[in-house]
Amino acid sequence: MDCTCSKNSIEFYKNFQLQNFNTLKMSSIADIAFFPKSESEMCSIFKMYDKVHILGWGSNTLFSSLGVREPVVITKKMSDISFRKDIVEVEAGASVQKLSVEAYNNSLSGFEFLIGIPASLGGAVAMNAGAHEQSISDTIICARVYDTLEKKVLTFSKDELVFSYRNSIIKQNYPRYVVLSAKFQLQKKDKLEIKKRMDENTEFRKRVQPSLVLPNLGSVFKNPVLPDGEKLSAGMLVDKCGLKGFHIGNAGVWENHGNFVINYHNCTSSDYTNVIKKMYDSVKEKFNIELECEIVYAGQLSEFEDKVWKQLKKN
Ligand code: EPU
Repeated sequence: MDCTCSKNSIEFYKNFQLQNFNTLKMSSIADIAFFPKSESEMCSIFKMYDKVHILGWGSNTLFSSLGVREPVVITKKMSDISFRKDIVEVEAGASVQKLSVEAYNNSLSGFEFLIGIPASLGGAVAMNAGAHEQSISDTIICARVYDTLEKKVLTFSKDELVFSYRNSIIKQNYPRYVVLSAKFQLQKKDKLEIKKRMDENTEFRKRVQPSLVLPNLGSVFKNPVLPDGEKLSAGMLVDKCGLKGFHIGNAGVWENHGNFVINYHNCTSSDYTNVIKKMYDSVKEKFNIELECEIVYAGQLSEFEDKVWKQLKKN
């Protein structure tokens, strides 16, 4: 990896290995990676390039084994969290786990569900992260976003963000809008009560979800909702297809939950893509349900991967 430290003074690296910057531990080389430290540095990168890939904590992106030609902008160094009474303003690269703990330290409730989620605030807002009957959309007041089409900063109110299950205007228009920061209204509560809920959530995750010791990208598919409103578990559907433990190359469906795919040992993006194709095809064939993928793909696509990801994106 060549290290270079100034492009209009913004920290950047050429031929940057992304393996330690995604929770799947996928080996992938980015031609260039930027580490902006402020909103103004971030905006000046957008002015230099038409298309970039924004990377928070890398818990939702499958990077290509063939590398990434477009610039990767890593938000981790833009991570201020500032409380004013029960309002908190958070920059895009802040860890949501840290946010959860800091809210607890301030006796504020609303972020208990974020404990244990390996994500950045920007990613969590874009996908309206949620768990245990709480979600980002419950407490958000507004978000500052960069519009890469109009090349300007906008403020979206909660209504303008058009949230639904694991979805928002930001995700719907991906990659047009980039989250810069967001403001939340939390609720004063007894610390013991907040701690109890956080402990319960941690215990649940330990029991039913893989830790990052088994590198993974979280849930592969959204839980489908049938036309009559019935909600199903994607993991349960994959499980009923008998795919828990199913492997291709070094990627495989986790033995304990059908909606997680693990990198067992230096898997390739093609191994991972092959496994999720098998999950998608099997559920479609057995239940006539087309699952919707939560993961995004970044980088050079092989012919096979291009075909599969086009099919997955159609939904
Ligand atoms: N189940 C199976 N087999 C499996 C997996 C699940 O039979 O292989 C059954 C479980 O026994 C349970 C039901 O399906 O009765 C639902 O499973 P679980 O409680 O694990 O919940 P989930 O639907 O898999 C959802 C969210 C998680 C969130 C948890 C807790 C999605 C796709 N998943 O999981 O969110 O943490 O509820 O609230 O919305 C994420 O989105 O990345 C995520 C991890």
